[in-house]
Amino acid sequence: MFEHLERLPEDPILGLSAACTADPNADKVDLTVGIYKDEAGLTPVFEAVRLAQDAITAEEVSKAYIAQQGDPAFIAGIERLLMGPDNPALAAGRVSSVQTPGGCGGLRIGAELVKAANPAARVWVSTPTWPNHIPLIGSVGLEICEYRYYNPVGHDVDFEGMPEDLQGARAGDVVLLHGCCHNPCGADLSHEQWQAVTQLCAERGLLPFIDTAYQGLGDGLDEDAWGLRHMVANLPEVLIAASCSKNLGLYRERTGATVFVGRDENQAQILVSQGMKAARKIYSMPPAHGALLAGRVLADDHLGQIRRTELAEMCQRINTMRGLLAEKLSAASGQDFSFIRREKGMFSFLGLSESQVDRLREEFSVYMVGSSRINVAGINLSNIDYVVESVAKVL
Ligand code: LMR
Repeated sequence: MFEHLERLPEDPILGLSAACTADPNADKVDLTVGIYKDEAGLTPVFEAVRLAQDAITAEEVSKAYIAQQGDPAFIAGIERLLMGPDNPALAAGRVSSVQTPGGCGGLRIGAELVKAANPAARVWVSTPTWPNHIPLIGSVGLEICEYRYYNPVGHDVDFEGMPEDLQGARAGDVVLLHGCCHNPCGADLSHEQWQAVTQLCAERGLLPFIDTAYQGLGDGLDEDAWGLRHMVANLPEVLIAASCSKNLGLYRERTGATVFVGRDENQAQILVSQGMKAARKIYSMPPAHGALLAGRVLADDHLGQIRRTELAEMCQRINTMRGLLAEKLSAASGQDFSFIRREKGMFSFLGLSESQVDRLREEFSVYMVGSSRINVAGINLSNIDYVVESVAKVL
């Protein structure tokens, strides 16, 4: 059966992180995979999550399956978090969700629904996008098309290219958007650009599919949801894949959701039934632990407040590092890196060639993705000068 299978190359993100772990150089710096790290280089459990976990461990009497749709407190909590508590779409019952294994599960179930509804739909993804979007969505059998997004010269959104390319989309196609903190480039749509894309979707009959994994790590929880909420308020149908990996620190617990916004309550419930059926045929039902933790934190005012404070501190640290890195890189290289300060969330491109990225890894043990995407959260006051000096040496 398996004789003809070949060994595959390492994952372009996870493989580099593993290589960094194995590197014996004491000065090594891991700027690869998108996980938050604090000033000490650690990825701590949120205090709010730890408190929720203590309570759950004390109370838990069964490991029986949870509901097929997912934990009700988690579902209500994630919908409130995304939409804002007073969103009319929530009150109207237009919003429904299926808990999924991480945001990846959310993307996959969303893609399954698109395929069920319109097998001829094409899914338009930004150039560039998170590389795993393509196999996750493409493997249900949907065709993938690309729209121009990042302008590497101006280090901003190519908002001439994006709408121009989306003119090529047909009614019934899907536009995959990053809710905030674009992965990999960190360049987000402005409010005006969100409005224009919303109008374009309405005029051309396109379904927005919003991948939101970094809410709270750009400007703040509500600020980062502006585009998503604008679309929900102005379009009849929106599909969302949400992740609690980064903004609740639940990475390994695989906690996420596919969130459907339909025309009315009936349609929202139809979408849940379709989502549960799609999940049943792939992995049957969702894992419990992360969703029980997230559900408790999101439902409890006290825990919720602790978590908001923790997240705001993380967001602030990232933005402080962005400012410092921009300043120090510009000074050391004589080139303009001020775009790093403007960009949002964990990621930015340094604008290096692959061979410069290779040199940084091989000569200095500074690890980043081949595209020169860095995880800004991997920078701290102890390693920033080493990173800056190393980058300046390969420029
Ligand atoms: C990343 O882009 O580094 C994260 O989303 C983690 C992953 O799975 O690639």
